[in-house]
Parts: sequence; structure tokens; C-alpha cells
Amino acid sequence: MTDILDENKITNIIEVKNLTKTFGADSDPMKVEAVKGINFSVKKGEIFGFLGPNGAGKTTTLNMLSTLLFSTSGTAIINNSDIIKEPDLVRKNIGMVFQETSVDIDLTGWENMELHAIMYGLDKKTRTKRIKEMLEIVDLSDKAKTLVQNYSGGMKRRLEIARGLLHYPNCLFLDEPTIGLDPQTRRSIWDHIKKLNQEYGITIILTTHYMEEADELCDRICIIDHGEIIALDTSENLKAKLKGDTILMEFENNKDLIKFKDKIKDFPGINAIKLVMDRNGIALNPQNMPGHPPMGGGPPMPGKIPKKMMKQMQQMMMKMKDQHSTKLNITIENGGEKIPELIKIANDLEVKIKSLTIKQPSLEDVFIHYTGRSIRAEEGEGRIHLIRKIIQSRMGGGRRH
Ligand SMILES: Nc1ncnc2c1ncn2[C@@H]1O[C@H](COP(=O)(O)OP(=O)(O)OP(=O)(O)O)[C@@H](O)[C@H]1O
Ligand SMILES: [Mg+2]
Repeated sequence: MTDILDENKITNIIEVKNLTKTFGADSDPMKVEAVKGINFSVKKGEIFGFLGPNGAGKTTTLNMLSTLLFSTSGTAIINNSDIIKEPDLVRKNIGMVFQETSVDIDLTGWENMELHAIMYGLDKKTRTKRIKEMLEIVDLSDKAKTLVQNYSGGMKRRLEIARGLLHYPNCLFLDEPTIGLDPQTRRSIWDHIKKLNQEYGITIILTTHYMEEADELCDRICIIDHGEIIALDTSENLKAKLKGDTILMEFENNKDLIKFKDKIKDFPGINAIKLVMDRNGIALNPQNMPGHPPMGGGPPMPGKIPKKMMKQMQQMMMKMKDQHSTKLNITIENGGEKIPELIKIANDLEVKIKSLTIKQPSLEDVFIHYTGRSIRAEEGEGRIHLIRKIIQSRMGGGRRH
């Protein structure tokens, strides 16, 4: 037993214990339980991915682990230091790249790095050496003297990664490292992340909305929703757990979908039937309403909705979500053989199938299985999230800690 514990101490660089964050007091009608007592560990040298819908609690978790935010209860040990009792020691071991760009566009790349290095108390000689070294790693040496306002989105992201590495951390937290970047730039960032991990042995914890990113980069994937961990394993194992092929069926309308879904609920070999929320359904999320703290953080939108009315609205919206969906995700054993029978059922019911696809489970199917939402809908939601952020910034809002 002692051996196992010692072994864990060496191999686990992060151990999270009952970590909880609640925004707002009990009496606050807008209280949000963003992270609900989560437990997990990250192995040394691992790339560990946090996958989850908007508002799932990813950023809140990362902010607590990087000591930017106090936990309501629970703690985490990072490289043998406690985030609550020894935040200074923790900070020495970690680097952080925020979800939102935080470089100063009026400075050059070098100046941005220098400012950060000064904040870390590095002397002039060390600063120069490390800035050169880090800019080299992210292929920005030739842009060091260029103003950041002339950088592309991908270059800004790489600069932020380089900046997060100046103090030689063992662990790097990347909150949505490739959000909003085109596929090609995204791939180049992936190469840099892999290099940092494989050549420099840095443990990486990242959050993402992109399935292919998690699949490509992460040794293990943790799916988080409503502040709780709902799945944690390698991508391969998560897919294998779905047991069966995935059939995605799109119907002419929601009525047809419900009729068909009711009919097949006892069909042999079916392991799961999920409604895939479409964008309209997701757009009606109560978290986008006035008075509720927005997903991704920040103060509530102006105006306050009484608790009772909020609850009614939530119920109404959940109902509307069910009424909107026209897509069904079915996990079924030997799916190929079952298709003719499923089509026959649809014909007998006189419901119209718009499209039908079958495939081996992908990470997206895993996501739908656990969260009941498609990542495409998430992207739609992300846009609303962005619009809210723009409104807030115009109104002078900022992040609460
Ligand atoms: N400072 C804050 N004050 C109040 N509520 C907050 C604050 N920060 C986050 N929240 C709420 O906590 C929940 C989790 O937010 P968080 O930013 O951790 O989600 P996320 O998984 O990172 O989402 P996204 O994918 O949009 O970045 C959300 O309901 C959000 O509105
Ligand atoms: Mg976030």
C-alpha cells in the first residue's frame, strides 16, 4: 500500500481533492455552483484535456488550480505544493495561458515578454536569455521587434504560450489555446504543444471545445458538465465504452422524431438514444438571460429576474429544447445490420427521415452521449457567449474573483 502511495506521489503531478467553487451567497437567487467537489489527478508528463459545454466549469477549475481564484472548499496539490496553503510555490511551478488574449498589442513581442519576466523578478541577463529561448521554441524570433497589433491570431497565441514558459514551469495550463483560429493555425499550435510536452517534458492541462484537438493531443480526456466530472479516460477507452456503432438520424420535424424515438425505445441492441440539441434549442439557455451570470464568467447582465420566474423559464426552455430537436443519436450494436429494420419502422410510422449516417463512435459521439449536446450547437452557443461579452465590455463589466 505504501509503495502504491509513494508511486502515486511520483507519477501524479496534480491531485485535485473535492474542489468546489460557488459564486454568490446561499441567499443570492443567482448563486452558481460552478464546480461541485471534483476529484482527479494528472500524471507527470501527461497532456490532460478538459472538454465540456459552455459554462461547464473548465475555466473556473483552471483558475483555481493556477491560484487566480480561491476555492469555496477543497484543494489541489501541484508538484507537492498545496494551492491554498502554498500559492507562491504553486505559481513557481505553473504557467498559464488565459482563455481571452492578454497580450499588450501596443508593445512588441519582446516587450511583452520582458514585462512578464520583470514581474517574475528575473534579472536582466536571465531575462534576455530566456526570452530568446522561448521565442525560438514558438518560432517567433524573427517577429520579436514587431508590434503585437501586427501579429496574426495564431502568433498572438504562440507569444502567450512563450510568455507562460518564461519561469520554466513544470506544468502549463492552456485555456482554449486555439479558440477562434483557422484549422491550419490550430494545427501549428498543436505542433508547439506536442513539442513542449515531448521535448521539454512539460505537463499540459488544456481546455477545448474542439473534439479533434482533444483526440489529437490528449493522453486522457476529462468531460465536465454542470461543474461535475462525467467521464475521464483515454479517448480510445471513452469511445469503446459506448459499445456499438453510432447512427445519426435527421427527421423532417421534431414531431416525427418523437414518434420514432418512442417506437424504438425497446429495439434490440440499442445502448443509448439521445436527442441532439440544435442551435435554436441551445440559444434558449437560461444562462443567456438577464440577471444570470454569463457562461464563461463575468457579472450578470443588467436586470434581475425573480427566482420563481427564473425556474418557470428554465422549465419552459427545457421543454422547448425537446421540441426543437430534429436529430437523434442512436448507439446500437451491429448498427449496419439494423438499418433496414429502422427504416421500415420509420416507413410504417409514416415519418420522414431527412438523412441517416452510421459510423464507429467518435469523440463527438462520446460528448453527445455524456452531455446530450452536439459540439456544433456549442459553437452556436459560443457565439451568443461572445455577443454577451461584447455587450458587457461596452457596459464596462469585468471578471469577478
Ligand atoms: N466571476 C463569476 N461570477 C459569477 N459566476 C461566474 C463567474 N465566473 C464564472 N461564473 C459561472 O460559473 C459557471 C462556469 O463558468 P466557466 O467560465 O468555468 O465555464 P467554462 O466551462 O470555462 O465555459 P466556456 O466554455 O464558456 O469558457 C458558469 O455558469 C458561469 O456563468
Ligand atoms: Mg472557459
